[in-house]
Amino acid sequence: MSKIKNICCIGAGYVGGPTMAVVAAKCPDIKVTIVDLNAQRIAAWNDENLDNLPVYEPGLDKIVAQARGRNLFFSTDVDKAIEEAEMIFISVNTPTKTYGLGKGKAADLKYIELCARQIAKVAKTDKIVVEKSTLPVRTAEAIKNILDNTGNGVKFQILSNPEFLAEGTAIEDLLNPDRVLIGGGTDTEGQEAIQALAEVYANWIPQERILTTNVWSSELSKLTANAFLAQRVSSINAMSELCEKTGADVNEVAKAIGMDSRIGPKFLKASVGFGGSCFQKDILNLVYIAKSYGLHEVADYWEQVIIMNDHQKRRFASSIVRTLYNTVSGKKIAFLGWAFKKDTNDTRESAAIYVADDLLFEQAGIAVFDPKVEKGQIYADVNYLGTRSEAQNEKGITVFADPYEACKDAHAIAVLTEWDEFKEYNWQHIFDNMKKPAFVFDGRNVLDGEKLREIGFVFQAIGK
Ligand code: UDX
Ligand code: ADP
Repeated sequence: MSKIKNICCIGAGYVGGPTMAVVAAKCPDIKVTIVDLNAQRIAAWNDENLDNLPVYEPGLDKIVAQARGRNLFFSTDVDKAIEEAEMIFISVNTPTKTYGLGKGKAADLKYIELCARQIAKVAKTDKIVVEKSTLPVRTAEAIKNILDNTGNGVKFQILSNPEFLAEGTAIEDLLNPDRVLIGGGTDTEGQEAIQALAEVYANWIPQERILTTNVWSSELSKLTANAFLAQRVSSINAMSELCEKTGADVNEVAKAIGMDSRIGPKFLKASVGFGGSCFQKDILNLVYIAKSYGLHEVADYWEQVIIMNDHQKRRFASSIVRTLYNTVSGKKIAFLGWAFKKDTNDTRESAAIYVADDLLFEQAGIAVFDPKVEKGQIYADVNYLGTRSEAQNEKGITVFADPYEACKDAHAIAVLTEWDEFKEYNWQHIFDNMKKPAFVFDGRNVLDGEKLREIGFVFQAIGK
């Protein structure tokens, strides 16, 4: 197979956008076109002002500036991009199903299927189709069936190339990944397709970090990696509750166990609960797959990771209510942070949404400040839960562009995201302008508790 010269990516979201921008920046000889049905999103990717890119990631603006207009293009013309490309990445959303069979657990593959049908309809030359979105095991088979049965008689090779980037560090993860995983067919054509994609990555990634497997191993490895990572967070969060009861400090426990080289220090930060578009979705999907094969013990084992995470979010909200003398009705609670982690504007499954929902049930007034999340997104997140009317949510939540304003006259502050800037605030000033006693609930263990107590705050942190 000759070298790839033209790549298209369907889906210009948090994964497709940054991933393909890096491919374009690192492979100036390959034309990369990222397409999306969402015209507003494409317009934002094409915005001259790089502050308006639809995805916030440190370093992304420089990468886009380097390649856009040279060999990186953003477009809504999906058919044209498919037709021209030799290799097509599918990077559309695969949310948890909200209806029918597998509701609340299985991944909804309708967007994937629509893409496959569109590729089949448009393609007039052989294509390599690459699954970038996280998918249930054996999805490649379904894609292949659609392509082969509805196509124009051209040949398709399906590869699985799951993306392991974490939001907030996407560019660093893409430039310098621990590994790149490519799964493909074991026959000659499958191996050639794997090789073609491996050559693209070889432009900047050392050969020994490019791992090739069969398609099913690759699909399942992605679900497994996310399940293991989420499990670590739930494990340390389970310990955080025990720490609070026993006088142990979860940071000290995490450090002590993390120095064991078999355990390692990463992913041991106790928190108000993990969020993000992947962990919950992928575990629910894993649980669904295990159950569908009759593996009930396997399913129950992984489901417990989600149960623990839900408990952690709920426990944080109820601890605020209990500490504020069992009522937050009519009280102002300031939220510092809304994104599911720092350095991103993504809020999908953010713990903040669920904590806010619980506190709204308790009739609290919530004042939100997040350095990167837009106001409309915050209302959209709580409205999506459908637990009360949009008017009630608007009444209950106020969004501020200034953290000091958000905290002014508040009875309590809750830290929901670990943004670095929170540590640097003038906490004396914040204290002076709050109702007394002034409470701080640190859901991320980022603030200096000793200093805050000296100022006069009543300070509580996860796992202490
Ligand atoms: C995750 C995987 O890390 C990545 O490999 C995969 O491609 C997509 O899913 P992401 O969801 O972007 O990435 O972020 P991640 O850093 O994994 O954090 C997920 C959630 O866990 C966040 O809410 C984060 O705050 C939380 N977390 C993480 C903790 O609470 N404690 C930790 O120690 C680590
Ligand atoms: P992720 O985090 O996986 O990147 P996002 O939801 O951020 O998920 O992005 C997925 C993108 O895929 C969205 O911008 C959506 O508009 C786009 N998309 C979904 N289906 C199609 C399709 N059939 N053709 C083109 N774009 C699509």
